[in-house]
Amino acid sequence: MSGIDIKTIETSINQEIHQIDSLQGLEAWRLKYLGRKGIIAQLTSSISQLPPEERASFGQKANALKDRITSLIDEKQQSLATDSAPDQVGFGDIHLPGVAQDLGHLHPITQVIDEICGIFLGLGFSIMEGPEIETEYNNFTALNIPLEHPSRDVFDTFYLKTQNPKPKTQNLLLRSHTSPVQVRAMKSRKPPLAIIVPGRVYRPDAVDASHSFMFHQIEGFMVDENITFADLKGVLEIFARGVFGQDIKMRFRPHFFPFTEPSAEVDISCIICKGKGCSICSRKGWLEILGAGMIHPAVFKHVGYKPEKYTGFAFGMGIERIAMLKYGINDIRLFFENDLRFLKQF
Ligand code: DAH
Repeated sequence: MSGIDIKTIETSINQEIHQIDSLQGLEAWRLKYLGRKGIIAQLTSSISQLPPEERASFGQKANALKDRITSLIDEKQQSLATDSAPDQVGFGDIHLPGVAQDLGHLHPITQVIDEICGIFLGLGFSIMEGPEIETEYNNFTALNIPLEHPSRDVFDTFYLKTQNPKPKTQNLLLRSHTSPVQVRAMKSRKPPLAIIVPGRVYRPDAVDASHSFMFHQIEGFMVDENITFADLKGVLEIFARGVFGQDIKMRFRPHFFPFTEPSAEVDISCIICKGKGCSICSRKGWLEILGAGMIHPAVFKHVGYKPEKYTGFAFGMGIERIAMLKYGINDIRLFFENDLRFLKQF
């Protein structure tokens, strides 16, 4: 190695350093010159082969070259670090597409409640809620449900242990339907009334694919002078078409509820087979979706309305059932297990 070699090396390091654009590239370049078997090491070991008088100045030049390379590396390292700061402090590659965040959304039951309430709000109904802990009076007595009615049985209603010492009708329970809110509304307001009541209800049922000890209902009622069964039919038809589609058919089957007279169970034509008969509708072509009727005069008496003056209709439906029919869900437990694979589909 001679003095000329050192000059050539100087020229090439000044060119090469500009082309380096990454820290990995810089490290490779450092090894090429300053590594144990690098160019500087080769220069230094060649000193012994030089004539003695050239050795000192060659050694100085080699040292100067080494210093130059070291300072070039320091400078480059700093400029690379500023250019690609995000890479170095762990933000990842800023050029990659972003990672979408998982957004939460409303539970399917809440979505169905909102949809149904929306339809009734459009018809001029207002929303009212009531407490989940009710008196036996509001849940049964005022609704004309006699003392011996099986739904009052402890096997069909959760009674609270802490009880009022007052008359038995003041006993407390977890409401078994949303109908007691009819009583609360009528006691606190005057007709005309058009109200819907979404909410949780409780019954001591063993949990299986179609039963749960807690589920949701929507109650609806309208009270004024001259409200007729035709009003009930018109309102429910708008509701059912809104939820299940314009081409469904509806039928009213005579039924019995203590708080309505006459009473009916309402069916829609099967949304799966369109009425032909399939396993979902048990070959009947019809699916029961709610109970309804004209509010019983005895209920009006309990809340202080004159039965000679006012008439009204009422209806009540189970939200889980509506949601299961609407979306083809075959197990009510799916709503309460919070499995994200299920919930994310809505
Ligand atoms: N409360 C009834 C139930 O839980 C449903 C119901 C039927 C409500 C008829 C009503 C009605 O308002 O008129 O099974």
